Amino acid sequence: MPDDEFGKIVRQGEQIFINTQKNAGQFVGNSLNCVNCHLDAGRKSNSSPLWAAYISYPAYRSKNKHVNTFAERLQGCFRFSMNGKAPAFGDPTLVALESYAYWLATGAPVGGTLEGRGYPEVKKPAQPADYARGEKVYQQKCALCHGADGQGQASAGKTVFPPLWGEKSFNWGAGMHDIKNASGFIKANMPLGLGGTLTEQEAWDVALFMDSHERPQDPRFNGSVEETRKKYHDSPTSLYGKSVNGHVLGAK
Ligand code: HEC
Ligand code: HEC
Repeated sequence: MPDDEFGKIVRQGEQIFINTQKNAGQFVGNSLNCVNCHLDAGRKSNSSPLWAAYISYPAYRSKNKHVNTFAERLQGCFRFSMNGKAPAFGDPTLVALESYAYWLATGAPVGGTLEGRGYPEVKKPAQPADYARGEKVYQQKCALCHGADGQGQASAGKTVFPPLWGEKSFNWGAGMHDIKNASGFIKANMPLGLGGTLTEQEAWDVALFMDSHERPQDPRFNGSVEETRKKYHDSPTSLYGKSVNGHVLGAK
């Protein structure tokens, strides 16, 4: 990193990304840090790395139906994945994160897609994803770190293993609530240190199990779960508004 005024902001961006709780806590409404889903400080391939993201904007997003700048894309992460409040355009938090991503992308060509961008799509498994099978995978391969109740583990007030559902997790509007994204992240990156070891079937099953639990409301909620589903979750891979074990998700 350059040893000058610009480098100072790049370093700040790195610190915000790694410890969002401490360095941008005013914009965060859960126990997560950006790095929990973008591993190795946002550098790891197939963990939606920042260097591949930076050169991919501005881009049209069907999620909000207009062309998003990179700064707007960052705002979305605060609102949904971090269940928080988006920093305003020009806010030092966004400037620092954008500077860090720009620096990580040094030498990357704009106008294409770099290998390793995003989370790799996992082929649809032979059998439709299943809650009971996913629960078994969870107990055997995830609960040790994330807890039998999915609430993760904290030590001295600091999150060591992040929560996967519940009040302290990402909300119903976040990309990770969709089992297509979640299976991709999980297959490539979990269990931590053993990425790539789950079968496609296990990745889909455990993603469905994880995303069949309650979490904070979608901030675009308009009072009706049914209408919010129709408007924002009209996809077979979103469980929002679906009934699981007698409970309609999103209706707590
Ligand atoms: C709960 C997991 C999670 C957390 C926490 C999270 N993200 Fe993400 N992020 C995702 C997912 C999933 C996607 C892809 C989702 C999609 O395409 O809808 C994504 C996409 C992105 C992208 C676009 C990537 C690309 O190639 O287009 C950027 C940039 C980004 N996140 C930055 C951040 C920042 C900055 C933070 C912290 C403020 C953060 N994320 C926190 C899960 C997370
Ligand atoms: C050895 C401990 C460990 C195991 C086992 C493990 N994880 Fe994780 N997981 C982590 C850690 C630590 C992070 C945060 C990574 C970081 O910040 O670098 C994480 C992050 C995540 C995230 C994104 C952050 C969030 O809270 O939403 C998801 C989703 C996830 N794990 C799911 C799983 C699933 C599903 C399994 C089982 C297949 C699993 N993990 C097994 C330690 C573990």
